[in-house]
Amino acid sequence: MKIMVINGPNLNMLGKREPAHYGTDTLESIEQKLTEKGKALGCELIFFQSNHEGAIIDFIQEKTGAADGILINPGALTHYGYSLHDALADVGLSVVEVHLSDINAREEWRKISVISDIAIKQVSGLKTQSYLVGLEALVEHIGSRKKK
Ligand code: DQA
Repeated sequence: MKIMVINGPNLNMLGKREPAHYGTDTLESIEQKLTEKGKALGCELIFFQSNHEGAIIDFIQEKTGAADGILINPGALTHYGYSLHDALADVGLSVVEVHLSDINAREEWRKISVISDIAIKQVSGLKTQSYLVGLEALVEHIGSRKKK
């Protein structure tokens, strides 16, 4: 099983960026923890981060045939990224949306996700753990679909 792990704008700054909301792990250390979790779950991860919506869409379109699912933290694109929404809907892969901070306990505009309607699950507010919980749910979901 292969999973794309995609991080959107500003997530390359993790470690230095608002630790009260996002924790102190860097993106690299989150990716290391995910790699370990992926090994335990028997899946290979393909990592990508960009500050540009179009670059993320290009990546999704390019890798679609080579992956079974998508774990994504869209960053602020969560709240207004309609082209990202459409790209995720078009590829038809299972998607899990994750957030380090609790987007429902912050500003009003952060409570809106334009991505969540195409995601099988949203995991929010657990810092790095959000990614690990999200990966587990995604792998379980894909595994159960493959058995059918
Ligand atoms: C975020 C929450 C978003 O509102 C914010 O713009 C981010 C990170 C999170 O992981 O908590 O960049 O997706």
